[in-house]
Formats: sequence, structure tokens, C-alpha cells
Amino acid sequence: MTAPIVVTTDLCKEYRMGGGVVRALDRVSLSVRRGELVAIMGASGSGKSTLLHLIGGLDFPTSGTVAVEGEELTGLSDRARTIFRRRRLGVVFQSFNLLPTLSAVENVALPMLVDGAGRDDFVARAEAALRLVDMGHRLRHRPEALSGGEQQRVAIARALLNDPAVVLADEPTGNLDSDHAESIWGLLRRLVDDEQRTVVAVTHEPSGARHADRIVVLRDGRIVGTIAEPGGLDASLVSTRYAELVG
Ligand SMILES: Nc1ncnc2c1ncn2[C@@H]1O[C@H](COP(=O)(O)OP(=O)(O)O)[C@@H](O)[C@H]1O
Ligand SMILES: [Mg+2]
Repeated sequence: MTAPIVVTTDLCKEYRMGGGVVRALDRVSLSVRRGELVAIMGASGSGKSTLLHLIGGLDFPTSGTVAVEGEELTGLSDRARTIFRRRRLGVVFQSFNLLPTLSAVENVALPMLVDGAGRDDFVARAEAALRLVDMGHRLRHRPEALSGGEQQRVAIARALLNDPAVVLADEPTGNLDSDHAESIWGLLRRLVDDEQRTVVAVTHEPSGARHADRIVVLRDGRIVGTIAEPGGLDASLVSTRYAELVG
């Protein structure tokens, strides 16, 4: 068994709202191995995005710890955490967040400009990332000339540019029809199987989650169970087990 690459320990997150407190995560301990595709499922409001944001160092836990590749994010300064995130993590959201006036290559390369890379280097790397996600024939297209599925591939290419150890995806197929959603899950699967990435992806769709090696189910901020099957998952099995777990 390979070493864990993401470890959360007793992770709690509370939000103060008006006079009250919302407990978004409640003692979540999760370990993800290198080369795993883990799906996080749960109803709206169950804490999925909060968990992903904490793993991604985009927010601080109220208590508990997050370690990625043995680096404890909670112990880093803001600046060190930002650098770590940029170098070691790739993040993909439901909305593609592409700039409309830029081509696919420019959108993918843009974060590297922030890091001050030379032009030749970042264009070549952006093109390579786009080829990896089967977008080599759309390098100069702007977002408006791309389908939703293609735009999400561009966003995934952008997330891969710095050769991240872990890719975090928050409902990456939430804005896509089922055919495009299926192809994005196929791509995430391939990144794990062929490119040695580790992927943690939030979804509420059994048809997407079935592509994972393991599904972690959240309810009211707590892990209530895991769905896995040695021979692989299928959507109806996921639906049944999920319904049992969330009651
Ligand atoms: N910035 C915030 N301020 C206050 N409450 C929040 C904030 N972000 C999330 N929450 C609350 O935390 C809970 C979990 O939210 P979230 O992680 O977004 O759930 P999910 O992604 O599963 O829909 C919800 O009750 C939500 O309203
Ligand atoms: Mg969410």
C-alpha cells in the first residue's frame, strides 16, 4: 500500500453567522493514497466544498490538521501556503473561470505569468497540458468557441500546468450535460491511471462518482461511510449504498 498523500485529522470548521455557529465540518479524518481517485459525495450543505477548500489550503480549519505530501498546511504562513498551493495543488471548480478574451493556450498559461516564467517555456507547457486533455486541436480557440466540456478541459489543463501532486475538483461536471460529464470523469480517471496524479473530486452524481476508487460520504459535516467495491462501482450500486448512508 502506498503512503498517504493527503491526510486530514479531526478537521473541524465552524462559521459564525449572526449570533449562531454553523458547524460545516465535524471531526473529519480522511486519508488519500497517492494514485487514488476519491469522490466526495453528500447533499447540498453537507460540507463537501468546505472540505475541499481546507485540503487546498484556501481556508483555515477551526481545529484539526491538513497535511499534503507530509507538509502540514495549517502550520504554514499565508505566503508559504500560497506558494505550496501554487506548486503542488491543482484546483478545478464547477465554473470554468476562463477569461473570455484569451485563447485556450493563454488561459492555461496565465497563472504562470504570475510566477514570472519565460514566454517560450509557458506556451510550450500550456500546449502540452492542452494536448494531454485532448485539446490539442483547439489551442487558439477562445472560450466562446468551445463547448462546456471543452472549456472544462481547458480549466483542467490549467490546473495541471505546475505538475501538481494532487488535483482537487469541486463538482467539475456540475455545469455539463451527461455526455460531457462522462468524458470529464474519463479524463480524471486517465490522469490517475496513466499520469500518476491523485484526484479528490466532489460530486453529487452517482454516475460520476462510480468512476472513483472509493467514495467518501458526508452528512452534516461528518463522514458517515465509504463506498468501495473490489470489482469497481456502478451507478445503481452507488445510488443504493449512498441512500442507505444518508438515510
Ligand atoms: N463562508 C461561509 N459562511 C457561513 N456559512 C458557510 C460558509 N461556507 C459554507 N457555509 C455553510 O457550511 C455548510 C457546508 O457548506 P459547503 O461546504 O459549501 O457544502 P456543500 O459543498 O456540501 O454544499 C453549509 O451549511 C453552508 O451554509
Ligand atoms: Mg459545494
